[in-house]
Amino acid sequence: MDLFSDIEQQEKEELLQLRAELTQANHLYYVENAPTMSDRDFDFKMHRLQDLEKMYPEMADASSPTQHVGSDLGSNKFVSIKHRYPMLSLGNTYSKEEIEDWVRKLPTNVEIVCELKYDGLSISLWYEKGQLTHALTRGDGIRGDDVLRNILTIPSIPTTLRPPLANLPYVELRGEVLLPWENFERLNRERESNEDPLFANPRNAASGTLKLLDPDEVRRRGLIAYLYYLLGDQLPGQTHSERLEMARQGGFPVSDAIRVCHSVDEVMEFIAYWDTERKNLPVATDGIVLKVNNLQQQQTLGYTAKTPRWAIAYKFPAEKQLTTLEKITYQVGRTGVVTPVANLTPIQLSGTIVQRATLHNEDFIRQLNIQEGDRVWVEKGGEIIPKITGKDDTNHNNATAPYQFIQTCPECGTPLVRIDGEAAWRCPNETSCPPQLKGKLEHFVSRKAMDIDGLGQETIDLLFEQGLVRNIADIYDLRKDDIAKQEGFGDKSAEKILTGIETSKQVPWSRVLFALGIRMIGETTAKKIARRFTSIDTLQWATIEELTSIEDVGEQIAHNIIAYFQDETNLSILVRLRQAGVQLVSEQPTQTNTATQSLAGKTIVISGTFSFHSREEYKDMIEQHGGKNAGSVSGKTSFILAGENMGPEKRHKAESLGIPLVSEEDFLQML
Ligand code: IVH
Repeated sequence: MDLFSDIEQQEKEELLQLRAELTQANHLYYVENAPTMSDRDFDFKMHRLQDLEKMYPEMADASSPTQHVGSDLGSNKFVSIKHRYPMLSLGNTYSKEEIEDWVRKLPTNVEIVCELKYDGLSISLWYEKGQLTHALTRGDGIRGDDVLRNILTIPSIPTTLRPPLANLPYVELRGEVLLPWENFERLNRERESNEDPLFANPRNAASGTLKLLDPDEVRRRGLIAYLYYLLGDQLPGQTHSERLEMARQGGFPVSDAIRVCHSVDEVMEFIAYWDTERKNLPVATDGIVLKVNNLQQQQTLGYTAKTPRWAIAYKFPAEKQLTTLEKITYQVGRTGVVTPVANLTPIQLSGTIVQRATLHNEDFIRQLNIQEGDRVWVEKGGEIIPKITGKDDTNHNNATAPYQFIQTCPECGTPLVRIDGEAAWRCPNETSCPPQLKGKLEHFVSRKAMDIDGLGQETIDLLFEQGLVRNIADIYDLRKDDIAKQEGFGDKSAEKILTGIETSKQVPWSRVLFALGIRMIGETTAKKIARRFTSIDTLQWATIEELTSIEDVGEQIAHNIIAYFQDETNLSILVRLRQAGVQLVSEQPTQTNTATQSLAGKTIVISGTFSFHSREEYKDMIEQHGGKNAGSVSGKTSFILAGENMGPEKRHKAESLGIPLVSEEDFLQML
């Protein structure tokens, strides 16, 4: 084979490989909110794919990620609506030379508006006859999810248009929804203490938040927004900057970091200024957006399939700094996993002070070949949580002894074990290692588990230090005096905690199972197990085969369940929980005597498939609680109990009649 066709073959393979990789990365980024590729790698790979597609036009494919924007659709939690104007993305570059070229190629005397590129997720607000009617995510650029009820939690977004925008038939404002650094860090701290997976950056946190079904939780997290683009019918104004000014006057949150530039030099000044100054902003930014100011000129320049030709983004390089790895310490988690932590000489990186970074596990440290005292590179790629990416060899530490992971638990002294096939070292002393005990208690009382009001991490720590609670059953033996006599507590707060403990006895079995903290049993898996094994007694005698026949339950989880019931301490805890009145059996939906009349007067349509109860069970439940079940959606429908894969017809009808969709979880909560 000659050399050229060989190269061609290789490049075509690379092209296909990049398409697959970027499609997958888009899914992880937009749908799962859990990116695995840094923004920079993504952009470089995307540019390479664009180049390859230009070289081999015969390989064109309309479904290539170069041809459409990534999609955040993929759940049926919200009604999806077609955008009136497609929501495009922006061409981007990391090179200032390319920005200069772009500006120079524009007609002379063109005004360019420079703005910050906010790193959140885009939103499109529809104002029909002056009223906010929809708030759509970008979705796939053609359709977006209507997340209006969550957008309404952002105090700065007006629901009614004010002058000078009032009285226009249709105005659409586009902008970015963001979670400020401070709120992001608070949220992640909470998630860390609940052992929930952390959000990689504020963008993912904002995106995850906007897709929540519970607006109260959205409000609690504290989203904000900046608007940067106006569209609509019969809009006044000849330039983009005039329109932004109108939005600002109309009470919309529009950033002040905007400059109308008349030359490349002015653009470069803006970039240089904000490259440093952005670190003092309360929100994440990842670049600068340049837009042709004159709307007529914008129209002449037009669009490609995916991006406007009248705008471009310059993206800031990843921030990276050297600092000293002062000490490696070790943290023991709820499940006994020992995580090495890098304690660094504090440095300022993209708006936050960084002094700790996870070192993940022994293998990670060995791969980086780092030791205490080394100068290490700390990076925030695409504003992701800081990570150590390497060490500075120019000034190397003379220590010669190879790195050794600790051999005993730093908390209880028990020799650590490394389970085959896992990278983690673990302390096996589940029953008396303090952080494991505390972690189990904190998990048990947490919101998604027993949700005990007033018993947060700090109170648990205090009660633990005082020897009042060692395990989850001790919580139900707490007396008012035990709590009231603690510093910072009184009769009132003690009563509140006791009421919370009492109420937790109503928490359904599936959540109790999650709360027990059996290794690897998350919220969803617990639900699936509880659906199959409707009481602790049946679960206790389940075989490996029975357990692994449940969706999501593999051999490892099955073994963990069996091991849990083989432990004497656990069995005695269960006996005490049962005596206390904790729900260790599924509530029978058909028991009339326990039902409330909470659905009285409501007509409810059931649609889709469910994971917690069967459709028949839901029908019964609706009736038991005083509601009426109807087969089809009409003006009389109060809400739709919406499961997975809800039918498109029902969805459209609900959408047009403005009937709310209620998830399975919210429905059960309602009862
Ligand atoms: S203008 C048609 N301006 O960046 C042009 N976008 O990578 C519409 N973004 O989807 C976008 N700050 O989510 C524009 N000042 C700004 C922006 C901005 C952030 C986001 C937006 C867009 C993405 C493109």
